[in-house]
Formats: sequence, C-alpha cells, structure tokens
Amino acid sequence: MNKFDDPILITGTAGFIGHALAKELLIRGETIIGIDNLNDYYDVNLKISRIEEIKKIANTMNLKWKFHKVSIEDSLKLKKIFEIYQPKIVINLAAQAGVRYSLKNPKSYIESNLTGFFNVIENCRLFKIKNFIYASSSSVYGGNRNLPYSEKNEVNHPVSLYAVTKKSNELIAHSYSHLYGLPATGLRFFTVYGPWGRPDMAPMIFSNAILNDLPIEVYNYGKMIRDFTYIDDVVEVLCRCCHKPATIDEKFDPKIPNPSSSFAPYRLFNVGCSKPVNLMRFIKLLEKNVGKKARIKFKPLQDGDVIETSANTDLLNDWIDYVPNTEIELGLKYFVEWYKKFSSQN
Ligand SMILES: NC(=O)c1ccc[n+]([C@@H]2O[C@H](COP(=O)([O-])OP(=O)(O)OC[C@H]3O[C@@H](n4cnc5c(N)ncnc54)[C@H](O)[C@@H]3O)[C@@H](O)[C@H]2O)c1
Repeated sequence: MNKFDDPILITGTAGFIGHALAKELLIRGETIIGIDNLNDYYDVNLKISRIEEIKKIANTMNLKWKFHKVSIEDSLKLKKIFEIYQPKIVINLAAQAGVRYSLKNPKSYIESNLTGFFNVIENCRLFKIKNFIYASSSSVYGGNRNLPYSEKNEVNHPVSLYAVTKKSNELIAHSYSHLYGLPATGLRFFTVYGPWGRPDMAPMIFSNAILNDLPIEVYNYGKMIRDFTYIDDVVEVLCRCCHKPATIDEKFDPKIPNPSSSFAPYRLFNVGCSKPVNLMRFIKLLEKNVGKKARIKFKPLQDGDVIETSANTDLLNDWIDYVPNTEIELGLKYFVEWYKKFSSQN
C-alpha cells in the first residue's frame, strides 16, 4: 500500500486547532497531509514549534505525515497538492482568524477566507472529495441577542468583516453541496482555548501579562461573557465529523427552511461548551492558576466585539452523540501548565 493512500488534508495545520487535530488524527491511524502558509499574523516560531512537535510524534511513532508550506490563495500550488495526494477528506481550518484584526487589515480576510476558501472548495469539487469540513465561527451570530445561539436562528446582522467571511463560507458551501453533491459540514467554533493556543486570544495575553506584572486591558468594563471551549473537545468533534459526512435532511421543509440542514448534503453545527463564563470569573481563575494577581485596566467595548456568546449544541449532540464538556477550571489549569513551561523554554 502506498504510504499516502487515502489521506486527510488539513489546511492551517500550523495553527492552534489544526496542530491539535493533526496530532490526534495521526495517533488514531490516519494519514495526514498538512498545509499552512506560516504567515506572521502572530509569532511564526510558535507555528514552527507546532509543526516540529507533530513531526517529532510522527517520526517516533512511525506515523504517516507530510507538511507543505502552501497558501490556499495560490490556486496552482493548492491544485498540485490535491493531484499528488488525492485526499479523501478535506478539513479547511486555514483562515485569517480574529475579530479585532479585521478592522486593521480587512484585505487579509478577503484573501484567505474568501479567495482561499473558494480555491479549497473548488478543488474539493474537482477531486470529488467525499467529506468537506470547514471552520466557521460563533462570530456569525453578530448582533443576534437570542441566547443561547442556535443554528436555527437567522444570522444576517454581522458586526465584523471576519463574521461576514465566515457566513460567506457557509453560503458558498451550500451552493457547492447543492450543485455538485459535495458533503459539507460547517462548524461554528466558540472561543477555543487550551495548550498551544493563540497569542492574540485572552488566555495567552492575560497569562503573559499576569506573569510579567503587566496590566491587562479588560473590555466593556469586564461585562463580557464567553462560551470557552476546550481544544481537546473541539478535536473530538472534528474527529467524529470525519466519520460522518453531511447528508441530505430528509425532513427538510423548504417552506420553513432550517438554516442548519438542507435538501443538499449540508450541515452546520455550533461547537461550544454551553457553559458561558463571565470575564471577571475567567480572570480570577487565571490568577489562581498563574499564582499572581492581575493588574486590571478597564476599557470600553471594542468595535466588532459581541458582549456575550453561548452555544446551543443540541443539533451537534443528535448528529455525533457528543458535545464539548471540559469545565473551564480544568481547561485553564491545563492551559496555564503548558504556557508556563512553553514560555520558560522560548
Ligand atoms: N480559535 C478559536 O477560538 C476560533 C473560533 C472560531 C473560529 N475559528 C476558526 O478556526 C480555524 C482555526 O483557527 P485557529 O484558532 O487554529 O487559528 P490559527 O490562526 O492559529 O490557525 C490558522 C492557520 O491558518 C494559516 N493560514 C492563514 N491563512 C492562510 C492561507 N491563506 N493559506 C494557508 N494557511 C493560512 C495560519 O498561518 C495559521 O497557522 C480558523 O478558520 C478560525 O477562523 C477559531
């Protein structure tokens, strides 16, 4: 058998979620092809360390792993990857992430999240991929205040360009699913955190500041609520979705169209822990784990931010018989343990 028979292609493998997913799927015996453009939106060394870690695990356990530095906007190079490896499943995690940065550099969102996404899904069509999974975001709920957020709600009031690109991904996926029968599953992630996390997100920004006696900026005067979702739970959802391509919803009623399913093989799911945490409680838990008090600077709400997120995950539970469940106390403990070790070595 060819070493790279039936691989799973993961885009954005040097990223937080992509790295954790690649490791887990490799350990579960899958062949993984990873691509990432290693852009400098945040510390490139962290991205390289993640790739090195996957490589180390793959080498010691003799697992089937290959990485290429490729940008998903580069249609020619991307097509070559599909031609060489003929993946059976494609998981698109590569994107310009982050809500706040979309006000500073909107073009990068159009390039990675729209042009790049189009190139990925177009190759999925050309190479007749059996299961396409892609990252959407809780940000699509935008100005919606109907909490907890349900996939059945309309999401037509985005408050950031990032959210617009993610909602557009869902719409593009539906058209490909309908026109070409491409099974497409969109996962709306809710504030993912954990070891190897992102330096632009609160757990790392705050831990770093607390450890170094620097002030932390707390927006909306601390009156924010987030449905924090632990990385291992997100990975479990992704692994289960690998074995369950989207199907047509036989009960779909076009007169009362449910946005989460379709007459096409198309599904959308919230991926959240459904245990929203108040920001001030989150900071208290970080202080406890870091072992130091935070110096807090309260600030008004930032443009593009939503005040509260909370996921209804009933549909996900019905679909894969699993929902994220790691308590924030435990998740933050694991995160801070990792962060202390990682930051002392780097
Ligand atoms: N982490 C979260 O809380 C969260 C929440 C909602 C949605 N998401 C989505 O999940 C996915 C993964 O997020 P993450 O937290 O791992 O982010 P991340 O930034 O750590 O990972 C994304 C990776 O994609 C790569 N990338 C970006 N543009 C690319 C391009 N054009 N071509 C190739 N590679 C490119 C980056 O270099 C990075 O390594 C993203 O689509 C993100 O929008 C994440």
